[in-house]
Amino acid sequence: MHSSLNFSAKTKGKGKISRFLFIFGTRPEAIKLAPLIVKLKDVGNIQVCVTGQHREMLDQVLQFFSIVPDYDLNIMMENQSLFTVTSKSLKLLEKVIKESQPDLIIVQGDTTTTFVGALAGFYNKIKVAHIEAGLRSFHKFSPFPEETNRVLVSHIADYHFAPTDKAKENLLRESISEENIFVVGNTVIDALFMGLDIVNRNEKRFYDYFRFLDFSKRIILVTGHRRESFGKPFENICHALKEIARENVETIYPVHLNPNVRGHVYPRLSGIKNIHLVEPLEYPYLIWLMSKSYLILTDSGGIQEEAPSLGKPVLVMRDVTERTEGIDAGTALLVGTDKEKIVKSVRMLLSNRGEYNNMAKRRNPYGDGKSSLRIRDIVKRLLD
Ligand code: UD1
Ligand code: UDP
Repeated sequence: MHSSLNFSAKTKGKGKISRFLFIFGTRPEAIKLAPLIVKLKDVGNIQVCVTGQHREMLDQVLQFFSIVPDYDLNIMMENQSLFTVTSKSLKLLEKVIKESQPDLIIVQGDTTTTFVGALAGFYNKIKVAHIEAGLRSFHKFSPFPEETNRVLVSHIADYHFAPTDKAKENLLRESISEENIFVVGNTVIDALFMGLDIVNRNEKRFYDYFRFLDFSKRIILVTGHRRESFGKPFENICHALKEIARENVETIYPVHLNPNVRGHVYPRLSGIKNIHLVEPLEYPYLIWLMSKSYLILTDSGGIQEEAPSLGKPVLVMRDVTERTEGIDAGTALLVGTDKEKIVKSVRMLLSNRGEYNNMAKRRNPYGDGKSSLRIRDIVKRLLD
């Protein structure tokens, strides 16, 4: 599905000489950078380099936002290791940067591509802007390797676009210079609003797509993919989902393409009538489904940020989260990966309307949909 937003990276910005090179590689990075790619066209020439750390899941987003990369390193391999993602992208980025000659490299988030993109900028003495800077769980291995990627990127980057005041405080505590930190909100909400705009015009199409779901029942949306949960935690999650399926609900789980995730989920949850295992959903389908869900069980960073805009309670299946603003606002609850705790929390939200309403607030601490505009204005000012 195309958004018809004409985001093509090949359509260069006009007039100004500044050159921006976006480097990203996975689904969430693409979603969160898409609004900024279009906004920065007002300020300079845009080039997009995707490492291809993800393939199908990245391509879904590129297609929806009509982003045509100038460079595609196409590095993904089946069940790739952190070593191959890191070394292959770093090596190939040397050539890209030499050819592209950017004034500013822009990376987002905490993936291995993010880290390598920043490092490649540093090796070339090119300034690096980090979008979604300052998130911290303060646990080196949770999330793994993202927490350490974030810390490393913060100490490489020149400009830090923090989503919240808390993120800014984290950066200040690590002696990042205050004049280079900008609190702008999270661009994921910009992307969400753009997506919803399109989704809301096509309601019927989405009901048709999800016709296998019984919408007279409460829908529970599940996602899970974190590396630190492979093994026992994922087993627990699957047992919990089986138990929850005894309730009068419909559970839908778009299963991440990581073979370690699929290896856990499919053997344990296939063949249960009201658990629907589906392929990763294109972004508009995911946000539409989120808007129709009763609650969300996830370990995803992006979904934790999006859900409060739709008034959907999130149960976070992780032991720690760097997205504590949602917990503090009462829109999310950290339930870990313990079977009993997950089941108990879901049953509480199914049976206790008061508790449910308390969590289902449409108040989003992560953003207001104008983050990419703010970043554009700041970048413009920095260039001036
Ligand atoms: C990566 C990021 C993680 C981010 C997540 C978003 C790292 C180390 N991990 O985790 O921070 O939260 O993306 O989803 O940067 N695969 C496909 N097709 C795809 C994508 C993945 O087949 O489109 C399979 C491949 O076998 C691949 C494997 O999944 O080798 C793992 O992909 P990888 O990007 O290394 O890790 P993720 O778990 O996706
Ligand atoms: N998402 C999607 N399709 C799916 C699952 C998630 O488009 O099937 C979107 C979701 O709306 C959010 C982003 O992908 O914007 C989150 O990506 P993911 O959970 O893979 O990574 P994380 O945010 O945990 O790094």
